[in-house]
Amino acid sequence: MRRATRMLDDGDADCVVGIGGGSSMDTAKAVALLGTGDTEMRAYKAPVTTDVPALPVVAVPTTAGSGSECTRFTIITDSETDEKMLCGGLAFLPQTALVDYELTVGMPPRLTADTGVDALVHAIEAYVSVKANPFTDTLALAAMRTISANLRTAYADSSARAAREAMTLGATQAGLAFSNSSVALVHGMSRPIGAHFGVAHGLSNAMLMPAVTGFSIPDAPVRYADCARAMGIADSSETHDSATARLVDELHRLNRDLAVPSPREYGIDEQRWHELVPLMAAQARDSGSPANNPRVPATAEIEDLHWSLGG
Ligand SMILES: [Fe+2]
Repeated sequence: MRRATRMLDDGDADCVVGIGGGSSMDTAKAVALLGTGDTEMRAYKAPVTTDVPALPVVAVPTTAGSGSECTRFTIITDSETDEKMLCGGLAFLPQTALVDYELTVGMPPRLTADTGVDALVHAIEAYVSVKANPFTDTLALAAMRTISANLRTAYADSSARAAREAMTLGATQAGLAFSNSSVALVHGMSRPIGAHFGVAHGLSNAMLMPAVTGFSIPDAPVRYADCARAMGIADSSETHDSATARLVDELHRLNRDLAVPSPREYGIDEQRWHELVPLMAAQARDSGSPANNPRVPATAEIEDLHWSLGG
C-alpha cells in the first residue's frame, strides 16, 4: 500500500482503480484517501467516521463476496499490531462500480465458497443488525434468497454461468445492505481470527457463523426466522423457534457441503488461540461490530463461542 501511495504522490493521477477481491478494492480505497494527505491509516480506525473527500475510486470486483465495490468501509491490517482495522465513512465509498459476473467465471471452489459465505453473512447481519431499515431489509432478503439458491452450484461448477451471475448480484445487494445497515458479531469476531491466524475472511466467517448465530438468535428470533424463510429452509406456517432451529442446522450443513474446516482442522494452535482471546475480544469490540448486537458477549463467552467450533 505504501508503494501505491508513493506512486500516487509521484504521479499525476486523478482517480484510483481497484480490480480484484475485497482486499484489492479496500487497498484502492485506502490509497485514494492517504494520497490526499500524509496521515497514517490507523487514524481512520473505527469508531472514527471519515466523510472527507478522497480521490474517486473505480471498483471492479472479480469475486462475488466482499461487496466492497459499493460499501463505505475498508479493512486494512495494521502491520505493527496485526489488527484488521475497520475504517468507515463516505471517503471509502467508490465513485463507480463495474460489476460483471464474467470476471468471476472460473474462480476456484475454495475461493467461491469463502467469498460466497462472506456475502451471505453480510446479508444476514445487515438484516439482524439494530441498524437495519426498510431499504436494507429488501436488499438483504433478496441477497439471502439468491445466494442460498446458487452458492452450492457455483462451488461445485466453476463455469456455471447462471449461478455466477446470481452470486455476483447477491454479493452486491448484500454489500449495499450492510453498508447502509451494519455487520454484527460474526464480522467483529472474524477479523481478529483472520489477522492473528491468517484465515481468509470468508472462511473465518464460515467457521463462526453457526455458533454465533445460535448465540444471537435469542436477541432477534423473529428476524432470524425471516432469514430462514428467505433462504427457503422454513415456511411461513412454521413457528419462529422451528424456523430458527432450521437456520442453525442449515448453516452447519452448508459448512459441511463447502468443506469448511474447524479452527483445529485448519491447524490453529489451541494454546495460542486461548492466549490471544482477550486481545481478539478487545479488537472485536473496538471494531464496533459487536456493539451492534443487543447483547455484547463477555470475553469468556467469546472464548466459548470460538472454541465451541471444535473439530
Ligand atoms: Fe465480510
